[in-house]
Amino acid sequence: MDMEKLVSLCKRRGFIFQSSEIYGGLNGFWDYGPLGVELKRNVKESWWRDMVAGHDDTTTPAGAPEAYQMVGLDCTIIMHPQVWKCSGHYDLFHDFMVDCRQSKKRYRHDQVNGRWLTAKGKRIFVATELGGDEGLAETEQRALKFFNLRGKDAETLAWDGPLISLTKVPDFSVVLGPDAKELGTLTEPREFNLMFKTIVGAMGTEDDAAFLRPETAQGIFVNFKNVLDSSRVSVPFGIAQMGKSFRNEITPRNFTFRSREFEQMEIEFFCHPKQSPDWYQYWRDKRFRWYTGLGLASNRLRLREHDKEELSHYSCGTADIEYAFPFLPPGEFGELEGIAHRGDFDLRSHMEGKLVRQGDSLVVETDAEGKPRHRGSGKDLSYRDDITNERFVPHVIEPSAGADRATLAFLCEAYAEDEAPDENGKMQGRVVMRFHPRLAPIKAAVFPLVRKDGMPEVAQEIYRSLKTEFNVFYDEKGAVGRRYRRQDEAGTPFCLTVDGQTLTDGTVTIRDRDTLKQERIHKNDCLTEIKRRLAQ
Ligand code: GAP
Repeated sequence: MDMEKLVSLCKRRGFIFQSSEIYGGLNGFWDYGPLGVELKRNVKESWWRDMVAGHDDTTTPAGAPEAYQMVGLDCTIIMHPQVWKCSGHYDLFHDFMVDCRQSKKRYRHDQVNGRWLTAKGKRIFVATELGGDEGLAETEQRALKFFNLRGKDAETLAWDGPLISLTKVPDFSVVLGPDAKELGTLTEPREFNLMFKTIVGAMGTEDDAAFLRPETAQGIFVNFKNVLDSSRVSVPFGIAQMGKSFRNEITPRNFTFRSREFEQMEIEFFCHPKQSPDWYQYWRDKRFRWYTGLGLASNRLRLREHDKEELSHYSCGTADIEYAFPFLPPGEFGELEGIAHRGDFDLRSHMEGKLVRQGDSLVVETDAEGKPRHRGSGKDLSYRDDITNERFVPHVIEPSAGADRATLAFLCEAYAEDEAPDENGKMQGRVVMRFHPRLAPIKAAVFPLVRKDGMPEVAQEIYRSLKTEFNVFYDEKGAVGRRYRRQDEAGTPFCLTVDGQTLTDGTVTIRDRDTLKQERIHKNDCLTEIKRRLAQ
């Protein structure tokens, strides 16, 4: 699928716009238009329903060690600055950036690739932001240009090894930057904290600096005791939260995939340490199934366990659910969601102070005077089991998903081009968004075939009856074939048309977006029939 076609459809049909577009846009910020807002709400509502509101606390689900409870939370975006000091974000949540003195462009150090090459007696490293075959082609083109050679001289370039990360290159004086014409224009990598800073209060100074949350998770940890004391939950249980997060990404890119403002859908699941490996497996598999159940093809989706070296300092196991986004080179996948076994790192950090790993255990990090580097709250966040009387700090399994990334994956998956007959029966090319009916922004569209003979009145009556339950669209303008095609592009699963026959026998046509099959049903049965089809 061509990503440019999807991006242009998103703008043309009101799924996604660039933020502040009339002022030239703001890099890394995106707005959802009338169709996009419905789609993203449906993604979030499906997640909330499937994980929280619709969860059955009384039954042990398949694959789970036992029955468990789920509750929700909605915390503030700005929290006490100490939260981020104890969580590790203040000290550790950074990327390395490199700047190009010639092109004035900025890159994330770990996202620049390149190849070693010798030509005309010189060994250089040709850098690119691309990967895979595109990266190989781009480095060849740039090397030919750099050495003033023609395409037919490509064999004279002696490549040494495959594309590798710039992080493996110690000496930048031999690097041809991704947009540079000369060698050695990249600066040394510099650390950059990704949290957005703000000042709280009218008279605020640097001492009143706070941060926009870079994840929703910490709001859950710091409310662990509040939830425990105020609701009748007992371990094992999960707390879910969805909401905005902010990261000052160095290189926002790939449409909404890496944005600076985005929404997360996170669960912190608290369990007994001994059961945590089983719960980790359970959540990994449950979350993977959630995406396939909503239409992501399993051959474009994968579950990737992190290697030991990739694991965060606190994690005993992490898996990513990844999708083969069309903007990535073939064979590459982008992260949709991470499922992490976080042990007791977070609760203990907020009790004791920021922790660091020492051998196999986590200890409070201390300063030169031996005092905690970042003090915890001092509040007891341990848990006492009412039945066994055992007191312990629960372990945490964290399925952490991005609402915008999931929405983007569903958009990519839905996009299709095929042919459908027009009103004269002639086959015409069409773009159709094959959303899962639960995610479709509009569930049904209602049309009068023509704007006369009482057809609009009947169609509006049907529209009003459906509107009590779903997002439905009424359209009486233009040729009916064109109206169908507009709904195909919006991903509307069903179209109901009132025609001449409706006036005699009370039936209307119902057209299926995917099969293009049209059947007649009675106008009074529209609500039941749409409900039945949506539930399938
Ligand atoms: N609490 C754990 C956590 O935040 P993460 O892997 O940094 O983990 C979780 O983020 C999810 O949030 C990612 O899998 C992704 O879906 C989404 N996400 C992270 N950064 C993002 C960004 N810059 N733009 C859009 N989504 C992002």
